[in-house]
Amino acid sequence: MDQSRAPLYEAVKKYIKKEMVPFHMPGHSQGRGAPVSLKRIFGKEFFDFDLTEVSGLDYLHHARGVIKEAEALAADLYKVKRTFFLVNGTTAGVHAMILATCKEGEKIIVGRNSHRSVIGGIIVSGANPVFVHPAFNEDYGIITNLTPEDLEETIKKNRDAKAVLITTPNYYGFQGNIKKLIDIAHKYGMYALVDEAHGAHFPFNEKFPKSAIYYGADMVVQSAHKTLPTLTQTSLLHIVSDKINADAVEQSLAVIETSSPSYIFMTFLDVVRREMALHGKELWDRAIEIAEYAREKISELPGYRIVDENIVNGNDISAFDPIKLTINVEDLGFSGFAFESFLNKNGIEIELSDLQNVLLFITIGNRKSDIDSLVKVLEKAEKKKTKKREKMPPFPVAGKQVFSPNDAFNMDYEIKEISETEGLVSWGIVAPYPPGIPILAPGMEIDSDAISFIKTMYKKGGMIQGAIEDGNKIYVRVIRGGRK
Ligand SMILES: Cc1ncc(COP(=O)(O)O)c(C=O)c1O
Repeated sequence: MDQSRAPLYEAVKKYIKKEMVPFHMPGHSQGRGAPVSLKRIFGKEFFDFDLTEVSGLDYLHHARGVIKEAEALAADLYKVKRTFFLVNGTTAGVHAMILATCKEGEKIIVGRNSHRSVIGGIIVSGANPVFVHPAFNEDYGIITNLTPEDLEETIKKNRDAKAVLITTPNYYGFQGNIKKLIDIAHKYGMYALVDEAHGAHFPFNEKFPKSAIYYGADMVVQSAHKTLPTLTQTSLLHIVSDKINADAVEQSLAVIETSSPSYIFMTFLDVVRREMALHGKELWDRAIEIAEYAREKISELPGYRIVDENIVNGNDISAFDPIKLTINVEDLGFSGFAFESFLNKNGIEIELSDLQNVLLFITIGNRKSDIDSLVKVLEKAEKKKTKKREKMPPFPVAGKQVFSPNDAFNMDYEIKEISETEGLVSWGIVAPYPPGIPILAPGMEIDSDAISFIKTMYKKGGMIQGAIEDGNKIYVRVIRGGRK
């Protein structure tokens, strides 16, 4: 296909040129009614592009025109059967993957390292999750990926499961043994669904890990906005295999997503796809070069360790994404959290910190001079006297699933201080950040390991998403009257 085209962008531009008199949504009427302060910042063109389904444009959930063409070009570039543009992030794609493959009461095997959107999709679908515990890199204190052995063992005990949902790479760019994981799911007749939120850039440079698309997953969802130069909320859902009912996916997306998709978002997806097709290789070559420059410079500094491709072990880590900079600050006597504050105070904003590390993303927008600025700040960090090492505590194994997440969500809840919840059943999703992975899901029995992990992470300065934090106390939602 002609990847130099951007049909959606072209159609919107053509429409704007017609200077139609607007009597339609959105309420700013192509910027005329927009607040002056915002018009000054965003410019007239921004509002011109914020169109709705006007004549000559298309419907996201009934794509027959320019959106269909733009999605077909994306599918051609990513070498998949069909691509859906997502305007509600990867979260919507994860929900649709689950809805389209698992019905109420059916089992889905998921990594315990899944993002909260997986639990959300399971709540919506009514499926029953079976969790597989991920491996852990003790050196850096980072949860990595499922091992093929652990996945197969769980599958053997749950042969009636419909699908396996694998999340890889992790935030830090560690990709699991995706080929083996997909092959195992297929060996037992299950769908292999992959949350590749952190891998939308993989196809555009041979130095990146290969996408799960390449290894034959049935469906793959990618947060375009996480690594590609597009707007927040824009993602891609790919159907890779013939086994997937594309119509069921389309209908699921129509249920989940907004019926007023932003043409600004979709235009970005269209134009960024063209950019990647025409210039992706050289743009990413430059970004990788900058990341390597950073690795070289930082590894020369005393007190820092930086993750590189030596992290690959062929089991829970089979490939490494070079644009992720994980810098370990333990030897300096800092926790990752404290080091992030130090960086912020010195004008450096990063992606995240955990107890032992800080994580920085290099994108095609970064310059070598950004690395020089970073290195200058790193040089300034004085070694703290403390010999105390912050270590990530072991991630607790999933508690017993007493009710399906959907059933649990339909029950009443009450709020309890976390120390009083052992043996009770969680109503909500509770995800300490870091690692940003749900420790509690609706319907899961709360055990002492989960309680202690949540309390420890809170004490060490983590945020407990889905809990109510009040001074030194943490409250969670549990099923009312709900002992298992
Ligand atoms: C692994 C993973 N999956 C899914 C998501 C959800 O993506 P989005 O924010 O695009 O909805 C995230 C977001 O951080 C993620 O890290």
